[in-house]
Amino acid sequence: MLYELIYRSLGFKEWDTEELSELLEISKIRNREAGITGMLLYHNQEFMQLIEGEREAVLSLYREIVKDDRHHLVHVIWEGYIQERGFDDWTMGFVDTREHKLSLPEGHTNFLEDGILTGSRKNPTVCKCLLVHLRDTLTIAPTIPTF
Ligand SMILES: Cc1cc2nc3c(=O)[nH]c(=O)nc-3n(C[C@H](O)[C@H](O)[C@H](O)COP(=O)(O)O)c2cc1C
Repeated sequence: MLYELIYRSLGFKEWDTEELSELLEISKIRNREAGITGMLLYHNQEFMQLIEGEREAVLSLYREIVKDDRHHLVHVIWEGYIQERGFDDWTMGFVDTREHKLSLPEGHTNFLEDGILTGSRKNPTVCKCLLVHLRDTLTIAPTIPTF
């Protein structure tokens, strides 16, 4: 059955565009092989990522991500079974708030102003809504076609 997991984490340092692009390229290839789709948000040194796919694939990727020594304070915000994928066009969609001019609903802007950690604690339900909103407003086509 399909499963989704949303977590947040904090980079050990500010990531530059090149480091993020490298992470994305490798992730997209590996995710395609593992049947994983999702969305990654980078904002002020913090990450929030939704990964979805077969439960074992999702949990196995999450275990690897937790061990990754480029970030820490990795916390699950939400996980559970889903009927269908929400991000099936994206082997990993990506938004860097430094690069993308986002027009967000008011609640989402507050969420980002608070920072992902505080925002997700205050209002965990905004997390998925925000990622879905980013998915729907992203105009850049995925570089690797999906399944
Ligand atoms: C914020 C963040 C998000 C990541 N997302 C993914 C991902 O979606 N897919 C993936 O394969 N690796 C992702 N990684 C990388 C994994 O943690 C790990 O480095 C990668 O799976 C390669 O592991 P290996 O070098 O031990 O083979 C992410 C890492 C970070 C820090």
